[in-house]
Amino acid sequence: MCKVIAISNQKGGAGKTTTAINLAAALVKRGKKVLCMDIDPQGNLSIGLGTDYPDGLDYTVAELMQDVINEQEPGYIKCILHHGAIDYIPSNIGLEELELKLVTTMARENVLKNVIKKYREMYEYILLDCRPSLGMLTMNALAACDYVLIPYAADIYGAKGMEQLLTNVFKVKRYLNPDIKIMGILLTICDGTVLTGDVQRMIKEAYGDSIHIFDVRIPKTVRIKEAAANGKTIFEYRQSKVLGEAVEAYMQLGEEVEAYA
Ligand SMILES: Nc1ncnc2c1ncn2[C@@H]1O[C@H](COP(=O)(O)OP(=O)(O)OP(=O)(O)O)[C@@H](O)[C@H]1O
Ligand SMILES: [Mg+2]
Repeated sequence: MCKVIAISNQKGGAGKTTTAINLAAALVKRGKKVLCMDIDPQGNLSIGLGTDYPDGLDYTVAELMQDVINEQEPGYIKCILHHGAIDYIPSNIGLEELELKLVTTMARENVLKNVIKKYREMYEYILLDCRPSLGMLTMNALAACDYVLIPYAADIYGAKGMEQLLTNVFKVKRYLNPDIKIMGILLTICDGTVLTGDVQRMIKEAYGDSIHIFDVRIPKTVRIKEAAANGKTIFEYRQSKVLGEAVEAYMQLGEEVEAYA
């Protein structure tokens, strides 16, 4: 059965996109059939998977959603791009406009859910890379998913964002998607400093009893940035020992995700 995982945290720079790309790569290495969807008009996931200029694309997540709104047959297959064995549906700035249009759309929170129905028949995992906001696109991702994975960059300012996100997930559970589950909090960009250790303890104390915290932590390494800038997953960009640790971490995440769901 297909599992849809929304990778969400409205705090910017939490490691959402990096996690979507490299978790997809890890799951593919584990033999799974994976689709990533870019639910962010910034198009970072699309760029990270090798689409140099997403704004030049003419059929993306926005057009898929628009077709569903218009009750037209969406181009389910034509929008899928490939990065090796990872399939992905790109996004661009057009998704910004679509988000504004959603406000006046009937059943506006469920548009993405209706798009995804078709892909559930085709994939084992669908990863939704959310934008850093709690707007209508993120609501659509939360309404469409089975699980939420929350990347949390180990910095002290993330805590408030986490509270808002959790409140939102509980609202979504109550009103839109009763089956939604929080898969866990993933600590990202961990640099082994005292501050990172403090943040990890704080998260464990605050949420450890009620929310799963992944055993694996993603180490900080500038090579992750380089890999993304080159349109590669870190598995394809093994340039240093440190990156080797990040590769192992994302492999372990793949294992933990599979064990969980
Ligand atoms: N483990 C890491 N080590 C070092 N840099 C990282 C790591 N993970 C992510 N980064 C870098 O931090 C920045 C933010 O990461 P990313 O784009 O994945 O976050 P995001 O939550 O998707 O951001 P946004 O909220 O803008 O969508 C990027 O430049 C990325 O390359
Ligand atoms: Mg992102």
